[in-house]
Order: sequence, then structure tokens, then C-alpha cells
Amino acid sequence: MKFFIDTANLAQIKEANDLGILDGVTTNPSLMAKEGIKGSDAVMAHYKTICEMVDGPVSAEVLGTTFDDIVSEGKKLVTIHKNIVVKVPMIKDGIKAIKWFTDNGIKTNCTLVFSAGQAILAAKAGATYVSPFIGRIDDGNWDGVQLIEQIVSIYNGQGFMTEVLAASIRTPLHIVRCAEAGADVCTCPLSSILGLLKHPLTDLGLEQFLKDAKSMQ
Ligand code: E4P
Repeated sequence: MKFFIDTANLAQIKEANDLGILDGVTTNPSLMAKEGIKGSDAVMAHYKTICEMVDGPVSAEVLGTTFDDIVSEGKKLVTIHKNIVVKVPMIKDGIKAIKWFTDNGIKTNCTLVFSAGQAILAAKAGATYVSPFIGRIDDGNWDGVQLIEQIVSIYNGQGFMTEVLAASIRTPLHIVRCAEAGADVCTCPLSSILGLLKHPLTDLGLEQFLKDAKSMQ
């Protein structure tokens, strides 16, 4: 399973990238706004900086909701860097635009996916990635990981090439469960990635080893 970081924060992207286990980055308009980025020139420059930091796919989301707007924004976004993936919302014009991008060799990430039916449509349109938002599903008292399992099973059975990108990750356990469910990619906040490191027995064991090592000096 590939690891993407789900943020537009440069310090967090650097910290995850320095670990050596980062495969890519996803952003969304809320994450960009959180960093105080304003205006299309600043947005484009920020994506360029991220692409120069991480050698892997960087999802940049369109803001338009009509076919023409999505296609024209996407065409502009891919001029930033070869690793840009155009992130398109799961709406009717979004599906039409994903098909257009597919036919024109442009990679896409179909976002805001909450059902298997939506994931089938994204795959039919040729999306490179489909992003089911598992944390938001859990928030509504449903099981987000179950949706990942369902989509993985459908894609495998039908031979769809779209990669399942588990999004809206909230905890380290989400990452583990998505790996078990067969997700191709997990896009996570830095806190969830770092949370994978933690185990009290590791801390206790290391403390003892260091103590014993000192007694040998
Ligand atoms: C996906 O690509 C989105 O950016 C993201 O995972 C949404 O997560 P949230 O539900 O924590 O906002």
C-alpha cells in the first residue's frame, strides 16, 4: 500500500518525506485555505513547491463544477508539474470531465466518494484513483473500512484498473484496516502516520536496552 500525506502544510510534508516512506500528496480546497493560500497564482505556486519536495503524485483539486470549468482548470493544473493529478468531485460533470481527462492522458483522482456505486462510475470513466472518505463515513455511524473492502472486491472482480485511495483517515488503526482491506493507497494526516510508530512495549524495551548498555560502559 502506498502512503500519501493529506495536507498542504509544507513542514508536515517535509517531515513525512524525510521518513523516506512517502509516495505522494493529496490536498483539497479546505487544506489549502488552512495554510492561508489566496489567489490562483499563489495556489499554483504552492502546488509547484509541493511537487518539487515530493517525488510522487500530487492531487490538486479543481474548484469548478461544470464540465467546461473542470476541464479548463485541469488543463492549467497539469502545466505546473508532470506529477500533478487532477482531483475532480464525484458529480455528473465531474464524471464527464474524468472521461475527457482519461481520453487525453491526464491522471485524475475522483474525490468525495461515499458509495460503491459512485466508485463504479469513477472506474468506468477511467479515473486513476478513487477516494472514498472513510472517516466521514465513520462520523455518520457507518463503517468506512467496509466500503473500502466492497470497492476493492468489485474492482478486482471486474478488472477495473482504478486505484483505491482510502481518504479521510483519522487514526493509525484506519491505516492498518485499509491495508488489510486491500486499499492501493492511504492518504493520511501526519499524526496518523506517526501514530503507527507507537507501542508502549517498544518504549519500555528501548529504555531497558539503553539502561543495560550504559551498565556495560
Ligand atoms: C482526500 O483526499 C481529502 O483531502 C481528505 O482525506 C478529507 O479528509 P477529512 O474528512 O479529514 O477532511
